[in-house]
Amino acid sequence: MSEILFYNIGRYYTADTKAGYGRIKSAENVHIRVRDGHIEEIGTGGINAGQSAQTVDCHGLTLLPGFVDAHTHPVFYKTREEEFVMRVQGKSYEQIAAAGGGIRNSVRRFREADKETIKERTRKRIAVFPEYGTTTIEAKSGYGLSKEDEIKSLEIIAELNREQPLEMIPTFLGAHEVPDEYRDRRGDYIDLVCNEMIPEVGERKLARFCDVFCEKDVFSVEESRRILECGRAHGLTPKLHADELYPLGGAELSAEVRAISADHLLEISDKGIQRMADEGVMAVLLPGTTFFLGKERYAPARKMLDKGLEVVIATDYNPGSSATQNLQLMTTLGAIKMRMMPEELLWAITFSAARAIGMEDHIGHLEVGKQADFVLMDIPNLHYLPYHYGINHTVMTVKKGNIIYQKGD
Ligand code: NIG
Ligand code: FE
Repeated sequence: MSEILFYNIGRYYTADTKAGYGRIKSAENVHIRVRDGHIEEIGTGGINAGQSAQTVDCHGLTLLPGFVDAHTHPVFYKTREEEFVMRVQGKSYEQIAAAGGGIRNSVRRFREADKETIKERTRKRIAVFPEYGTTTIEAKSGYGLSKEDEIKSLEIIAELNREQPLEMIPTFLGAHEVPDEYRDRRGDYIDLVCNEMIPEVGERKLARFCDVFCEKDVFSVEESRRILECGRAHGLTPKLHADELYPLGGAELSAEVRAISADHLLEISDKGIQRMADEGVMAVLLPGTTFFLGKERYAPARKMLDKGLEVVIATDYNPGSSATQNLQLMTTLGAIKMRMMPEELLWAITFSAARAIGMEDHIGHLEVGKQADFVLMDIPNLHYLPYHYGINHTVMTVKKGNIIYQKGD
């Protein structure tokens, strides 16, 4: 039995899950008692710290639930700053991909490397998330694109889950691209995904979700439907990269297959919004990707919220289209580019984000019985989080009651 008392918390903010999206619960002069990694008590007023075995003084700072990043691609070998510079010089992401760069570039490099090297690089990269207040991420495969290399990616996620504190919820993304060797027989690649990869991933429980890059020149709506239905039959809940670069109808497909979320959605149609609302599919928006690709049009978050969609904000951390682990910065983009309010943004990176990865029973808000995942920030109030932008407000990050990051050490 371990008990820790976090006291002298100036103020906390968390989703008011009974009141609904964008509504916040808050209190001043708070303490939180943690037992065996879970929140045992949230109290206000004075506390006799002497009664507890272990105490942590929070110095009057602000406490938020640990951030949940519901869309990332952290398992890759090399970064792609040379493509970034090509984009600065005027080439588009799509042009680079069509010339064999982009995801296929990462796939070639991934296959050159041994598992240990990729694993150690991934370990180093994911250690950055807690520095920015993130305590859980959804993590996709998708840079292997052979049975062996996709399984390798998911094994790396499983091993790192046991070896370090950031919690990762795995997603199988074997349908991220058609790899080089299948360019003129794409049907065979889809057969490989459905007949070989998905059954093994499902059998070994290496992933919870099955994702597809449903996009013009990548996987069509029909191909995506087949892959997602196959995933579903093997216990993997559907998720989609949808309507990012072209309005293909991925949002409508997400409703049809009753995906847990559809992600990106810059080019979503009104009908797509309506269909997602009808079926309760969540919208995971990735404003960092829009920014980093230099696009003008951000996903229509306000319209989605007006239609009753639950909106999540994530980083899309990956080596090509969004090279950042910083969810705090995403809240600024969400506010400025998508007109989301700070209260909505807190939901979008905590409770709703947890819902988009099926984890809301354990994480995403501060409540007795939930996992003790939280972040102490040097911000005077919630509105200050997206306002003072581009810097890191995190002072301390706590995962399952353990301090996993502290500023200055
Ligand atoms: O979410 N859209 C597809 N996949 C990633 C990009 C991956 C890459 O460029 O390496 C994304 O943006
Ligand atoms: Fe992505």
